[in-house]
Amino acid sequence: MQKKVLEVCLSPAMYSKHADSEIVVVVIDILRATSAICTALANGASEIIPVDTVEEARKRKMEGSLVAAERDGFVLDFADFGNSPFNFTPERVKNKSIVYSTTNGTGIINMSSECNKVLIGSYLNFSALASWLINQERDVLIFCAGWKERISLEDTICAGAFATKLINSGEFTTICDSAIASMDLWDMAKDDLNGYIEKAAQRSRLRDKGLDDCIEFCHTFDFTDVIPVLKDGKLIPLSELRY
Ligand code: MLT
Repeated sequence: MQKKVLEVCLSPAMYSKHADSEIVVVVIDILRATSAICTALANGASEIIPVDTVEEARKRKMEGSLVAAERDGFVLDFADFGNSPFNFTPERVKNKSIVYSTTNGTGIINMSSECNKVLIGSYLNFSALASWLINQERDVLIFCAGWKERISLEDTICAGAFATKLINSGEFTTICDSAIASMDLWDMAKDDLNGYIEKAAQRSRLRDKGLDDCIEFCHTFDFTDVIPVLKDGKLIPLSELRY
């Protein structure tokens, strides 16, 4: 049987070279957007609505929505809460629809919306998502959010973890150097993930703002089996997707 093709996109600045309406895209923004989305749905949120702009998030707040929003790590003044996964507690999010806007991650989710499927990846849902990808039939792009179009170590390393798992399954092949580079980086980092992440710029940014209490949690494997998927502009659990 023909193998599926795997690619990795290291920054939204390169996305146009990878975009393809037939593929499944996995968006990764480890610190912190996709870790927060996985936590929110795992804790019972009914849906997350990613919006690109501060203006749109503000408008939704004025219309009565629950809004989680940040820019450069800081909670926006009109928002109910920010972007730490620890903000998305069951008490706060269970059965709730949440409008969500972040510096990088939410724009990238919407940027990929023309693809066959947009899934949300993190370490928190690693095994469930990897196994779903291995068992489906389409080519896969792992899309790293990065930081303002720059490459992020933490996203690249997680992309490498997924790429390694997919290639080792025997179901995927790649001729994408970004995928190879991400796998090599994962290989270097995997034995001391939290130690390696100390080098990451976003790790420093979060430390400088006193927002780094969630770093270890964001690098924890398999907190949940939930795989968020984008459907009609909303992220819902893949298990609830009806065609
Ligand atoms: C983002 O989406 O830009 C990031 O996850 C920002 C953050 O949480 O600090």
